[in-house]
Amino acid sequence: MKGKNIILTGDRPTGRLHLGHYVGSLKRRVELQNSGKYDEINILIADDQALTDNADDPGKIRDNIVNVVLDYLSVGIDPSKTTICVQSALPALHALTFYYLNLVTTARLSRNPTIKAEIQMRGFSEEGLPAGFFTYPVSQTADITAFDANVVPVGEDQLPMLEQAREIVDKFNKIYGETLVLPTAMIPENEVQRRLPGVDGKAKMSKSLGNCIYLSDTAATVKKQVNGKMFTDPLHLQISDPGHTEGNVVFTYLDAFCTDAHFAEYLPDYANLEEMKEHYRRGGLGDGVCKKFLINVLEETLSPIRTERAKWENDIGAVYDIIRTGTEKAVETTNSTLARVRRAMRIDYFEDRSIIKEWETLLKKANQ
Ligand code: TRP
Repeated sequence: MKGKNIILTGDRPTGRLHLGHYVGSLKRRVELQNSGKYDEINILIADDQALTDNADDPGKIRDNIVNVVLDYLSVGIDPSKTTICVQSALPALHALTFYYLNLVTTARLSRNPTIKAEIQMRGFSEEGLPAGFFTYPVSQTADITAFDANVVPVGEDQLPMLEQAREIVDKFNKIYGETLVLPTAMIPENEVQRRLPGVDGKAKMSKSLGNCIYLSDTAATVKKQVNGKMFTDPLHLQISDPGHTEGNVVFTYLDAFCTDAHFAEYLPDYANLEEMKEHYRRGGLGDGVCKKFLINVLEETLSPIRTERAKWENDIGAVYDIIRTGTEKAVETTNSTLARVRRAMRIDYFEDRSIIKEWETLLKKANQ
């Protein structure tokens, strides 16, 4: 154990990343990366985990690895500061998972609330539930511990995973001696960042609902999503009617994205969001103005991301080299943890020849 400040976080490469990912995690990863407070920052592209419920469609995962890396690079993840690596190319994770599976019961796994919710969401019957999917919290524990991560920035839905990881670490250390680092979750500070709703106001952005704004969307698509799919306040029929800002998705998005500087630039009638909201509640502020402002605000975030993405899209060879280099580094890191784990478990038979002496002594005693 290194006693260092090490971050590991990860994503399943099942699709392009959207604004929910941006406010909920990507933006903060960049801040953490640039804070200089961490000795190591690692991002794992969890393709093996993605396969636990996509075994019949590996092509989807293969295709989306590049999309997710492009999203990382375009928001400002800097490969000279952050290691980006691919899970399936790290064999130590598979071995660790296999050992940790012995330290958790099936009963405990069935109680994991996130797994329970995800099983329901995917409509798995008891007979249809893949064992790999059921046990992915254990594989995620392998991810975290293999990097000696003490800090794991994740969404709120991942808290049960971290709890389970901590239990496995405790159990391992108790049985085999202090070996693994106990990880802590780091979740987004404010409510809006924790769960940005879809443009239709539904709780979650999801591809199948068509209610996402992707980081790679064009300006025209963003405009179409805001103007076409965001309903505001059904009671705000005339501009002069008093309006509600609570539960009004345009204001939810403004809560998540706008700053006072945006007002100075695009809507100088108000100094800040509070003033704008007051006017809306009082009556006299039209939805069109609010949406136009929101589009400007979103574009200010998205347009530099788009530019950066276009640059990388023209050099996929460089993108490939970034993840290859990151993965090579991660192979070393995770292999060294696996060696430490095997030593702690005393299954490191081939590290040196000392076991020959042990076996000889054992046999001599038995034969006496
Ligand atoms: N389960 C995480 C998610 O769905 C992704 C993930 C895989 C992860 N391995 C991880 C997150 C390790 C943090 C640390 O978002």
